[in-house]
Amino acid sequence: MCGIVGAIAARPVAEILLEGLRRLEYRGYDSAGMAVWDGEQINRLRRAGKVQALADALAQHPLDGQLGIAHTRWATHGKPTENNAHPHMSGERLAVVHNGIIENFESLKRDLQAQGYEFSSDTDTEVIAHLLDSAVEAGDNILEAVRKTVARLDGAFALGVMHQDYPGELITARKGSPLVIGVGIGENFIGSDPLALLQVTDRFIYLEEGDVARLKRLGIEIWNATGESVERPVLQFQHGSGSVDKGEYKHYMLKEIYEQPKVVHAAMEGRLGKDSVLEQAFGAGAGEIFDQVKQVQIVACGTSYHAGLVAKYWIEDLAGIPCMVEVASEFRYRRVVLPPGTLFISISQSGETADTLAALREIRDRVLASLTICNVPGSSLVRESDLCLMTNAGPEIGVASTKAFTTQLVALLQTTLVLGRRHGLKPETEARIVEELKQLPGLLERVLGLDPAIEKMSEAFAEKHHALFLGRGTLNPVAMEGALKLKEISYIHAEAYAAGELKHGPLALVDKDMPVVTVAPRNEMLDKLKANLQEVRARGGELFVFAGSSQAVEPEEGVQVLELPPVPGILEPIVYTVPLQLLSYHVAVLKGTDVDQPRNLAKSVTVE
Ligand code: AGP
Repeated sequence: MCGIVGAIAARPVAEILLEGLRRLEYRGYDSAGMAVWDGEQINRLRRAGKVQALADALAQHPLDGQLGIAHTRWATHGKPTENNAHPHMSGERLAVVHNGIIENFESLKRDLQAQGYEFSSDTDTEVIAHLLDSAVEAGDNILEAVRKTVARLDGAFALGVMHQDYPGELITARKGSPLVIGVGIGENFIGSDPLALLQVTDRFIYLEEGDVARLKRLGIEIWNATGESVERPVLQFQHGSGSVDKGEYKHYMLKEIYEQPKVVHAAMEGRLGKDSVLEQAFGAGAGEIFDQVKQVQIVACGTSYHAGLVAKYWIEDLAGIPCMVEVASEFRYRRVVLPPGTLFISISQSGETADTLAALREIRDRVLASLTICNVPGSSLVRESDLCLMTNAGPEIGVASTKAFTTQLVALLQTTLVLGRRHGLKPETEARIVEELKQLPGLLERVLGLDPAIEKMSEAFAEKHHALFLGRGTLNPVAMEGALKLKEISYIHAEAYAAGELKHGPLALVDKDMPVVTVAPRNEMLDKLKANLQEVRARGGELFVFAGSSQAVEPEEGVQVLELPPVPGILEPIVYTVPLQLLSYHVAVLKGTDVDQPRNLAKSVTVE
C-alpha cells in the first residue's frame, strides 16, 4: 500500500520522482522520501507527512542527479516518522524502497544484528537494505545481491534498489506487490502503477511474480523467479475514461461521483447488442465456460464485496444459479467446499488487493474458471484470471470508492444476464433489462441534480457521532456501502442493517442522537420497510429517507424525505448508491476531514 517510483535517465530525475509520488499518494501518505545519485554519492531526503512536506523540503535542499528512487508510505511496521520513511539505506552506498510486508523480518534482523548491522528504523524494510549490503560486501554485484536477498524474504515485496558502485543501474524485483516498468526513450522508470509514470511514458512492462529486472538508461533485462532471462511484452497504456486531475472539482471524490453517468456508459459500450449482452466482452471461450457453470463463488473486499452482495440477489433471482459471496480475507484462509462447475468471480477496482489475489491463487486449480470484474487493465487479477470484464471507470484516485462501485454493478448485471441466458432467463427479460441499462446514465444525471438538497440534508449529520443505514433486498448491500462511505471519510461511526433485522437488536441503539438513513425505492418491499421506519420513529429516531416517491414515505417532523426519479427495479441498487455517496461527501466536507485521503487508509491494499 505504499507507492514506489524510480528513474534512470540522462536528465535530472527529482521532479519526475516527485510528480510520480504525487500521483501515487493515494496508496499511502503518511511520510515520503527520495534518494538521488549525484555522480559522487547518494543523497537522501525524507519527511513525515504528505508528499507536499517532501516537496517543500526539496525546494530548500534540491536533489540533483539522473538516477533516483522515491517512496510514499502507508505505515505497517513502525510509526509514520522521518526515521521510518523510505528510502532506507545501509551505510551511505545503498538505498532501497519497498512496498509490501516482510513476514520473517524479525529473524532476519536478529541475524543481521549478530553480524554487526545497526538498525535506525522500526521498519521491516531496513533488513532488505542490510541484506543487500551484506551480499555486496561478500563479493556479489548489486544484481546478484538482489537475487540472493529476495530469495530470503517471506511475504510480499516490490523493490527499487540503487547502489553507489553501480550508478548506471536501477534494480527492481516483485513478488506479491505490484510493480511496472515504464519504458522511455533513452530513459527507463519503475512505478507501483502506470499512473505514476504517465507524465513520462505510456509504454509499460508488467512484471510477473518473482521477476527481477535491471534497468539501464538504454536497456531493460528481466529474469523470472527461477533465474531464467525472459522477455515481457511492452504494452501501450490504454487511457480509460476520466483523467487524473481534479479539474473544476474541489475533491477527486466529488469529481468521480459526477463522472458516473459517463463511466457507466463506458462500462456498457460495445457490450450491449440490441437486446442482449455480447459475451465476447468476457474473453475467448467465455461461452463454453458459462455453459458449464453450476455455482458462482464471489470473493472481494470492502466496496467491491458490497457489489458482490448485490450480484448475489441478481444471479440467484435471474439466473437461478446458487451464488456465495465472501470477503477475501476470510475465504483465503479456510477450507472451502466448492461443488464442480463453480465459477470463481473476483471483484476489484485495483486488481491488486492482496487478499483477493491470494484467494484467486488459492482456488484457481479447483474451479471451473475464474472471472475478474476489474478496473485496472494489466493488473494482477486481470492477468491471472481466465476471463475478465473491465469496468472502464477510468482512474479512481479518491480513496473512497464511488464510480468503481457503480461500474462494478453494471459489469455484474451484464455477467448475470449472460449466465441467466443459459439457465432459463427468458430472452424478453434480458431484452428488457438491456433496454433499462441503457437508461442508466440519464437516471444518474437526474440523481446528481439532487446534490444541493443532499448537501442541505448533510448539515444534520455534522454533529452526530453515529448513524444507522437500513435497506432491504438489493438495497441492503447499498445501505452497507453507504455506511462504509460515511465512516471512511467523515469518521462518523456508521452501521448498516437489513431493515428486517432492526428489532432483533439494533433498535436498542435508536434515539434522537442516532440518525437513521434509509434507501426506500417504490418496490414490493416498501410496505415492510415502512413498518421498520415506524419502529424507528416510535423511539424518537430521526429519519433520512431516499424514496421512490414522497407519497410512499410522508415527510413530517423528524422525517426528511428526498424523492428520486422512478427507477426500474433492477437498477435501484446502482441509482440509490449515488445519493449516499453525496451525503457522505458533504458530511465530510462539513467536518473538514481529508476527503480524498482519509486517515489510516490507502487506496490499494496490497498487503494483508
Ligand atoms: C472503498 O471505499 C474502500 N476504500 C475499500 O473498501 C476498497 O473497496 C477495498 O480495499 C477493495 O479494493 P479493490 O476494489 O481495489 O480490491
